[in-house]
Amino acid sequence: MSGLNQAENLTHMIDHADIFICPACGGEGELKIIDDNIECPGCRNRYRVEDGIPLLFWPNEWNPTREDVTDKIKSFYEKTPFPNYEDFEDVGSLIQKAKTGIFARLLNEQIPFNIRVLEAGCGTGQLSNFLGTSHRHVFGTDICLNALKLGQNFKIKNGLERVGFYQMNLFRPIFRRESFHLVICNGVLHHTSDPYLGFESLAKLVKKDGYIIIGLYNRYGRFIADVRHFMFNVFGDRFKFLDPRLRNKGINDIRKSTWFMDQYKNPHESKHSVGEVLKWFDQTGFEFINSIPKTKVFTDLSEQEKLFRPNPRGNRLDHFLIQFRLMLTGGREGGFFLMIGRKQSNNNKNG
Ligand SMILES: C[S@@+](CC[C@H](N)C(=O)[O-])C[C@H]1O[C@@H](n2cnc3c(N)ncnc32)[C@H](O)[C@@H]1O
Repeated sequence: MSGLNQAENLTHMIDHADIFICPACGGEGELKIIDDNIECPGCRNRYRVEDGIPLLFWPNEWNPTREDVTDKIKSFYEKTPFPNYEDFEDVGSLIQKAKTGIFARLLNEQIPFNIRVLEAGCGTGQLSNFLGTSHRHVFGTDICLNALKLGQNFKIKNGLERVGFYQMNLFRPIFRRESFHLVICNGVLHHTSDPYLGFESLAKLVKKDGYIIIGLYNRYGRFIADVRHFMFNVFGDRFKFLDPRLRNKGINDIRKSTWFMDQYKNPHESKHSVGEVLKWFDQTGFEFINSIPKTKVFTDLSEQEKLFRPNPRGNRLDHFLIQFRLMLTGGREGGFFLMIGRKQSNNNKNG
């Protein structure tokens, strides 16, 4: 594909030219495609395109005394792009697999057609490609080029024209404020130096009345994974069988080793709580809508859950109890929790 004129691969970007901005200067001028590059008319910065993927990554430029794990995380995932694909995976098997996981199935059933969806930190792009199998415009973004290339390869092989992959640092967005009806960021912010700042950066990209979905490691839910982590450190990797996913014969070796690296050898991760994310929502003008698991005890997610219907926030005791349950049961999926918020229409805090 690299032999092709790169500009020929940029139809997705051209179709949505109105929402792109320069990550370096944040200027409002429309980015131009000149030869095989993308140029900002304001600061004149030029960005390359590789295999049809615009390389719009821009570093953080934080105070040098402040910790920034971006380069470390980027080089980790360049070596082990996550979650990678099974051999011979096609749209049929992607859909089949996504439907076995309740979250992706419900999302696909309930997100309207013809809207713009951003997935920040899409990794190898399974969810972006899956959501793009139906009629909606999906933007899969990540810092890791090797992961994006796997997603792009799948997209091209399967003719998923409504999906576009872009190299982007979520702290330096390449999109205008309020460009998306839905922003998804699953399993990403806890691998950054400042998860709340990352959340704020993404929250700005959500339209008023639009939604944000954030998936994070839970402080309690991660307990069993932390115990395994400790065992691997002390006794070596021969104890891999302790992780149920690594025992599963239905998962290929590449996906197993990617999971192992992501879960147990990651150079940086943080852990979060339901109460903390509720506070993030409050501080940025988002209303709590739903979560997995539910934030109120004795209410379980149903097979036909309406993901975007408002639910009670629960109180501190509820949060303690559901997270305690996650501690006992959350080991299988790495101790994740997901929170969904809606940007309030009178939101002046973040738009
Ligand atoms: C554990 S993977 C999750 C991938 C995907 N969301 C999933 O659930 O399968 C974390 C991803 O976050 C990306 N990431 C980390 N820091 C990022 C940043 N500052 N901007 C964009 N992506 C980032 C990594 O490159 C990696 O692909």
